[in-house]
Amino acid sequence: MAHHDTKFEGWVAMDKSAAEGNMVWQAYDPKPWEETDIDIEITHCGVCGTDLHQLRSGWGQTAYPVVVGHELVGITVRVGKEAAKTGVKLGDRVGVGAQNDACQCRKPPQTLKDHSDCNACSTGNEVYCPNMTLTYGAKYLTSAGGKSMGGYARYHRCPAAFAFKIPDNLASEHAAPMMCAGLTAFSPLVHFGSHYNQRPTSEKLKGLLVGVIGIGGVGHFAVLFAKALGAQRVVAFSRHADKRDDALALGADTYIATAEDRNWEVENAGSLDLILCTISSSNMPLTDYITLLKRDGSFCQLGLPDDGQFNVDAAAIASQRRSLTGSFMGSPNEIREMLQLAADKAIKPRVEVYPMSEANSVLKKMELGKAKYRYVMVNH
Ligand SMILES: NC(=O)c1ccc[n+]([C@@H]2O[C@H](COP(=O)([O-])OP(=O)(O)OC[C@H]3O[C@@H](n4cnc5c(N)ncnc54)[C@H](OP(=O)(O)O)[C@@H]3O)[C@@H](O)[C@H]2O)c1
Ligand SMILES: [Zn+2]
Ligand SMILES: [Zn+2]
Repeated sequence: MAHHDTKFEGWVAMDKSAAEGNMVWQAYDPKPWEETDIDIEITHCGVCGTDLHQLRSGWGQTAYPVVVGHELVGITVRVGKEAAKTGVKLGDRVGVGAQNDACQCRKPPQTLKDHSDCNACSTGNEVYCPNMTLTYGAKYLTSAGGKSMGGYARYHRCPAAFAFKIPDNLASEHAAPMMCAGLTAFSPLVHFGSHYNQRPTSEKLKGLLVGVIGIGGVGHFAVLFAKALGAQRVVAFSRHADKRDDALALGADTYIATAEDRNWEVENAGSLDLILCTISSSNMPLTDYITLLKRDGSFCQLGLPDDGQFNVDAAAIASQRRSLTGSFMGSPNEIREMLQLAADKAIKPRVEVYPMSEANSVLKKMELGKAKYRYVMVNH
C-alpha cells in the first residue's frame, strides 16, 4: 500500500537547556518501520509535568536528542500489515500515552531476547513490564531497535498495540491529556480504591472518601475521575486558595488550602480512605498527609519529584496499618475502560489550547505552574 509522505520533524531537545524553552524545530529519525507499527499524523499533544523532568534530565541523564510529549492524539496515515490485525485502520483517530511498547511475551526473532515468561504482560499489567519502552527517549526491544520520539511533532511512529481508538464523542483536546494525566489518576483509583470490583465502573468508589493532593494536570483528573467512579466525597488539597472555585466546579466536595488554612492536618486526621498525591516536589508535609488516612487507608504517590527524597514518620503508617504506595500510568485495558467512562459520562478536563509552534513558551508557563489545568498543543 502506498503510504502518506511523512516527514518526521518536531521540537528536538538537544540538552538540558531545552527545559528553559530552547527546543529546536527540526527533522529527526523515527524508529525503523516495522509491520507492527502505525504512523500517526499528530493533531494534539498535551504537556505533562514529566516532559519538564525529562527535558532537564531531572531523573538522570536524558537520551538527547529527544522529542518529548506523551499525550498525543492524531489520525493514522500508515498501518503495517501486522498492525492491521489489532483492528486499527487508516484514518482512525487514535491516542498514545506514555508507554509505547512492552515485551508482550514476544520471543526471537521478533525480539532480541525471549520474554515469554513476563508476568506483567501475561496478567494485563503491561505498564509494569520490566522491558517496556516509554514513548520518548527509550529503546525498543525488537530486533529493529531504534529510539522513541514523542508527540511535540508532526508525526509519531509506534507499535499499534499501544495506540487506542478515541471514542467519537470525545474531543481530541480532551482525549489527549487523558492518555497520561487522566490514566495516571484513573488507574490507582480503580486499583486501590475499589472494594467493589464486580460493580459497574461508575460505582467502583461507592462509599469511599477520597483525597487528592496537588491540583494540576494529574490532580484535576483525579477529582473528575473520583467523582465519575462514584466516590462518596472528594477532598481537594492545594497549597493556595486560588484553585478553590475550579476544584469545586470539577466535583470536589471540600477544598483545603494547605499553606493558608489553619490546623487542617489535625481537623481532618483519620478522615480518608484513599489519597492520591500528585505533587511534583519533595517539599511537602508527607507525614501530615498520611495522618489524614483512616485505619487501613492507602496513600498513593503519583508525583515523581526530581528535587529530593521524602522523609516520613514510620509511626504514622504503622499505628493505623496505613499503606504508603504508588502507581505508574496504567495498562491498555485500563486505558480502554477510562476512555469509555469519559465518553459515557462526557468528562471534560480543563485545557488551554496553543499552537504547536509555541511549544517553547508553553513549556515556560508550565514550569511556572500556570497551567489551568493542562496545556494542549495543536498542529495546524
Ligand atoms: N506516576 C505516574 O505515572 C505519573 C504520570 C504522569 C505524571 N507524573 C508526575 O506527576 C507529577 C505531576 O504531574 P502534572 O503533569 O500533574 O504536573 P502539574 O500540572 O505541574 O501539577 C503538579 C502539582 O504539584 C504541586 N506543586 C508543584 N510544585 C510544587 C512545589 N514546589 N511544592 C509543592 N507542591 C508543588 C501543584 O499543586 P497545587 O498548586 O495544587 O499545590 C501542582 O499543580 C510530576 O512529577 C509528573 O512527573 C507521574
Ligand atoms: Zn505524563
Ligand atoms: Zn512484558
